[in-house]
Amino acid sequence: MSKANRSSLPWWKKSTVYQIYPRSFKDTSGNGVGDILGIISELDYLQNLGVETIWFSPFFSSPQADFGYDISDFRNIAPEYGTMSDCEKLIQEIHNREMYVVFDLVLNHTSEKHPWFLESRSSKDNPKRNWYIWRDGKKPGGKKPPNNWKAMVGGPGWHYDKQTDQWYWAQFLPFQPDLNYRNPEVKQEMFDTVRFWLDKGVDGFRLDIINTMFEDAALRNNPFALKMFPSESDDKSFFQNKIYTTNHPDNFDFVKELKNVIDEYSDPERFLVGEITASLEVLKKYCGDIRNEDETDGLNMTFQFQSLDVKLDSEQLRRLISRYEQVFPEPYTPTWVFSNHDQVRRITKLGNNQDKAKLNAMLQLTARGVPFIYYGEEIGMSNHRLPLKTALDPVGQKYSWLPQFLVNLITRSGSISLNRDNCRTPMQWNSSPNAGFCSEEVKSWLPISPGHETLNVDFEESDSTSLLSCYKSLLQLRKTTPALHSGSFHLLPSFLFGNLLSYQRILKKQVVQIWLNPSKKLVPIREIVPKSRLLFSTIADTSSIKDTTLFLEPYQGVIFEISK
Ligand code: GLC
Repeated sequence: MSKANRSSLPWWKKSTVYQIYPRSFKDTSGNGVGDILGIISELDYLQNLGVETIWFSPFFSSPQADFGYDISDFRNIAPEYGTMSDCEKLIQEIHNREMYVVFDLVLNHTSEKHPWFLESRSSKDNPKRNWYIWRDGKKPGGKKPPNNWKAMVGGPGWHYDKQTDQWYWAQFLPFQPDLNYRNPEVKQEMFDTVRFWLDKGVDGFRLDIINTMFEDAALRNNPFALKMFPSESDDKSFFQNKIYTTNHPDNFDFVKELKNVIDEYSDPERFLVGEITASLEVLKKYCGDIRNEDETDGLNMTFQFQSLDVKLDSEQLRRLISRYEQVFPEPYTPTWVFSNHDQVRRITKLGNNQDKAKLNAMLQLTARGVPFIYYGEEIGMSNHRLPLKTALDPVGQKYSWLPQFLVNLITRSGSISLNRDNCRTPMQWNSSPNAGFCSEEVKSWLPISPGHETLNVDFEESDSTSLLSCYKSLLQLRKTTPALHSGSFHLLPSFLFGNLLSYQRILKKQVVQIWLNPSKKLVPIREIVPKSRLLFSTIADTSSIKDTTLFLEPYQGVIFEISK
């Protein structure tokens, strides 16, 4: 049966995901750092907003050198965020609201403070030695790294350890040593960790840098590439083509094994979404082969970071969507992600223009695929330009020595921010001095972004034309309009609508048509079917719909249900 005629897809395909960076959401303990009880206190807000699944950046035990992406105990909670019983309550409270929970799984590496690594580095014959990747340095002398491999963030990926006169491998920062997945004990332990959280009711996982799990066993040198920075679909960087360190063939088998683990659980079905920098074709390989009409046998989804820097321009958007539809036809499921805790926030790239942000939201919530909304995106929080010199982010710290002119050059395009603190500032709940994130006597771990006096939840809730109201309406509409969450997707040819981007979502007899005007011109759409019903417009005043012609204002988007 074709998708257009089926009424129900698996829950995760229809869902909308909201990412919480726990450190920045809401502080209840009074230490200026967000916590689990704070999140619980705002679950009604999220339910009311209309998101259906919540993904949490890690709040497991960690020295917080990379704010939770450096884990020292995968089955425990960092005390600044709460306790295991808070975590269990969080899962329960989310489920009570008929919402789903996604945890962040950092399989690739641990913290250097993890007891496994402490043991591993203690001696060459320690039973945990082979849990990490240790090698002799280059001969003679061994005082040079085993080969030329670079870390993802630049600089050598091998680190010398005096104690045993060997080098360990770390894809990311030196304090995040890579686990050795060629050791079956490691795999077993981490798969059991996955089961541990599934048993607690977690509904899915976001997989941190899952394309870096395996490296070339023969340690061959990566070839040279004329490219400094990685881009969204190509990880060549720091003058290296990373053929031996990322997207290694063994990764593709690994994700299938991981999928088998989550398939041990049903009711509800669980899902995996992978963080991967690669071309669409490589991303698709991670999703595996088609298993049945709904599913493939690898990852359920991967982030397609190709959307991060797409211009709000009909031609560029059309090209991107066509590529998604071509590479990820059903049952593959694209994702729509515009911001996250590592990236420049989308609205900053859109010049903080609210109309453009609303249009972007309409695209994100009506195109086929699963949308991922980053906390604060719904109220238009923008990047806060914080000085690199005082960065708390370890990547920012790594580059804090750069002279200002070079920083300006690198960040000029607006799509790279060397300091990830900029997109992690506290959630803006109200206009009080600490934006309602923490009490006024407390210093928040990162400064509150300027402009929070009007750019906050309270303020926008009382304004029916705000970005927040727009998100709420779109989320609600998506939930209650089957064609929008489950319908087939049809991009309409550009010759019909010129500067506009238009597509239909169809499910059984329901036809929903979306028109987006990503231009600064007023654009007429003629011959709107007379019986069409306007479901939503990003601009409240729709008086310009006259007879069968609709004039779309600059950056206006509309959704119609078309009666046949
Ligand atoms: C991923 C995370 C990032 C983290 C890194 C290392 O890219 O999104 O925040 O620093 O992996 O775990």
